[in-house]
Amino acid sequence: MNILAIESSCDETACAIIADEARILSNVVVSQIDIHSAYGGVIPEIAARSHIEAILPVVHQALADAKLAITDIDAIAVTHTPGLVGSLLIGTLTARTLSVIHDIPLYPVHHLKSHIYANWLSGHNPDFPLIALVLSGGHTQIIRMTAHNDFTILGSTRDDAIGEVFDKVAKILGLPYPGGPAIAQAAKSGNDQAYHLPIPQVSGLDFSFSGLKTAVLRAVQQALNLPISTPSHVLKDHLSAQQIADFAASFQTTAAKIIALKLHQALLDYPDTKSILLAGGVSANQIIRDTITQRFHHNHHVFFPEPAFCTDNAAMVGAAAYYAIQAGTQATDPYALDISPRSPIS
Ligand code: KG4
Ligand code: ZN
Repeated sequence: MNILAIESSCDETACAIIADEARILSNVVVSQIDIHSAYGGVIPEIAARSHIEAILPVVHQALADAKLAITDIDAIAVTHTPGLVGSLLIGTLTARTLSVIHDIPLYPVHHLKSHIYANWLSGHNPDFPLIALVLSGGHTQIIRMTAHNDFTILGSTRDDAIGEVFDKVAKILGLPYPGGPAIAQAAKSGNDQAYHLPIPQVSGLDFSFSGLKTAVLRAVQQALNLPISTPSHVLKDHLSAQQIADFAASFQTTAAKIIALKLHQALLDYPDTKSILLAGGVSANQIIRDTITQRFHHNHHVFFPEPAFCTDNAAMVGAAAYYAIQAGTQATDPYALDISPRSPIS
C-alpha cells in the first residue's frame, strides 16, 4: 500500500509517500523557519500564506521522488488537528481535493499520534505496552499505548509546552528562534551547574513549565544585579557569552531532569512497560536523549526518532495512518473532514 501523507499544522509544508511497514519512499519538507525567525516566532497569517505557495510543488516533488503517479496512491493521510487553523486548512483542503478528484480513501491523523509514530520510521518496532513522551513546541504529554492505535493520556502540561519554554528562554538569552537548537548549541560551552533552577512540584504525571521560565528570568536578573521590574527583552544586552552558555546549559539539564523524573513516576505506575518512546521537536535534544537513555535503558528499550523526524514532517503522518489502517480504522468522508485547532488524542 502506498500512502501519500500531508502535514501543514504549523510552519512546515510537508508531503511524504509511505509504503508497507512505514517504509519511506519519499519525504519532502519545506520549512518556513527562515521567514518566521525574523519575527522571533510563528506568525499564523504568514504561515498559512506560505503553505498555499508551497503545498502543490511539495506534493508533486514527493510523487516525483518516489517515482510514482497519483494513480499509484492507495490512501491519503493528512494532519487535521491540533495546530494553527489557517495552516491546517491548507493541508486538509489539498488532501480532500486529491481524495475526491482521484477517488482515493482519506484518513485524518492527529498530529501528536504522528509524532509518536515517527519512532516506527527507522525500521524500529517498539514492543507494547509502551510509554511515549511527546515533547513538542505546542504539547507536552505522557501517553501509554498497549497496542497500535490505542492511546491513553497519563499526563499533560498544565501551562506551557516544553518546546515553548525552550523558545521563551532562548528569547530571554537573546538566542534566535527556534530556541531549542540555539539553546543546545550555546549550552555546549556552558556549565550546567552554574545556576540552580528549581524542579517544579506537580502532583501525578502532569507537568508545569511556566515556573521554570520565570526562574530563568529571575536568575538572569539576579546575576546581572538588575531589579525584577527590568523588562526581559533588555537583559540579553547585559549578558556575557559565558553567562548565556551557562544559563542555556543549566536550563537544558533542568528540563531533562524534570522529564526523567516524570517518566520515572510513570514507570512506577505502569511496571509492565516494555518500551520508552521520545517524540516531538524537543526529543531531538541530545542531552534529553542521553539523560533518558542512561537512566532507563537497563530495564527498558528506549527509542527516539532520527533528528529529521523529531520536528514536523509528513513521513510520520504516513506511518501513523499506516498502523491505524492496519488496526482497522475506516476512511473518512472527504466532503465532511473538518479541522480543529485543539483536540486531545482519543
Ligand atoms: O514538534 P515540533 O516540530 O512542532 C510542534 O508540533 O510543536 O516542535 C518544535 C519545537 C520548538 O519549540 C523547538 O525549539 C524545539 O521543538 N526543538 C528543540 C530542538 N530542536 C527543536 N528543543 C530542544 N532541543 C533541540 N535540539
Ligand atoms: Zn509537531
